[in-house]
Amino acid sequence: MPALLDSVAGLRESVAAWRADGLTVALVPTMGALHEGHMALVRAARAHGGRTVVSLFVNPTQFAPDEDFALYPRTQADDLAKLAEAGVEAVFMPPTKAIYPPGFATTVRVEGVTAGLEGASRPHFFDGVATVVTKLLLQCLPDVALFGEKDYQQLVTVRRLAADLDIPCRIEAVPTVRAADGLALSSRNAYLSAEERRIAPKLFEVLTWMAAALGEGATSANAIAHGTALLKDAGFARIDYLAVCDAEMLEPVVRVEGPARVLAAVWLGETRLIDNVPVSPAG
Ligand code: PAF
Repeated sequence: MPALLDSVAGLRESVAAWRADGLTVALVPTMGALHEGHMALVRAARAHGGRTVVSLFVNPTQFAPDEDFALYPRTQADDLAKLAEAGVEAVFMPPTKAIYPPGFATTVRVEGVTAGLEGASRPHFFDGVATVVTKLLLQCLPDVALFGEKDYQQLVTVRRLAADLDIPCRIEAVPTVRAADGLALSSRNAYLSAEERRIAPKLFEVLTWMAAALGEGATSANAIAHGTALLKDAGFARIDYLAVCDAEMLEPVVRVEGPARVLAAVWLGETRLIDNVPVSPAG
């Protein structure tokens, strides 16, 4: 069974003891409701050979008032069983007041890479993520922290803040875990009806088609126009964005000439899905 830690002091004590034994520390920040995507992060953390801490904290500041904070799935017993089975040494489950004590007045804002995509659709989101991730990194001070490529803009944002704030921790990316039909695993997939779940994998199909076309020299404008039509035909009634951006700064590109990503956020009924795939230029 992992040690259950609910205070910053307790977390720091555990980390200090491991360090005194010469062990490295890997952190996997999560909001719980763990699925195979999270467990891939945990396995990658464990592969470092030191000690692994998983944080479970549903961070209120990354939800807008009209978003699903209250409804966000909370499955603590199930999460702890999965983490015990995976051999995790410690689970950090801070109460909200340990992260945001009375009087808390600091926000970490990352400019630039947060401006478009999710940042445009959900203006509050990255301030909340950047603030809580900065706190978790500073509370734990791990050697490495692991983030999924599924939330690609979040990954780029965390890399930026760790570099900008000289947080001595490596940020490691872990590839997206998909269901057999291609749907990226996400806690929000639980909200899909049977019919929506049938349509959902078409998002990955369209992104993959776009990545191939872009790799063969199609312009972003053409790939996006065709991709949009394919998504609409498939039943995605609302598209928040469908974009082709360079992989590092997330700036839109006209044509793919270096590492890039196709990224999308779409709606099926009341459920918002995001996904992205890499694109490499031909030859
Ligand atoms: O990706 C998530 O689950 C969250 O955004 C994170 C990184 C744990 C911060 O709350």
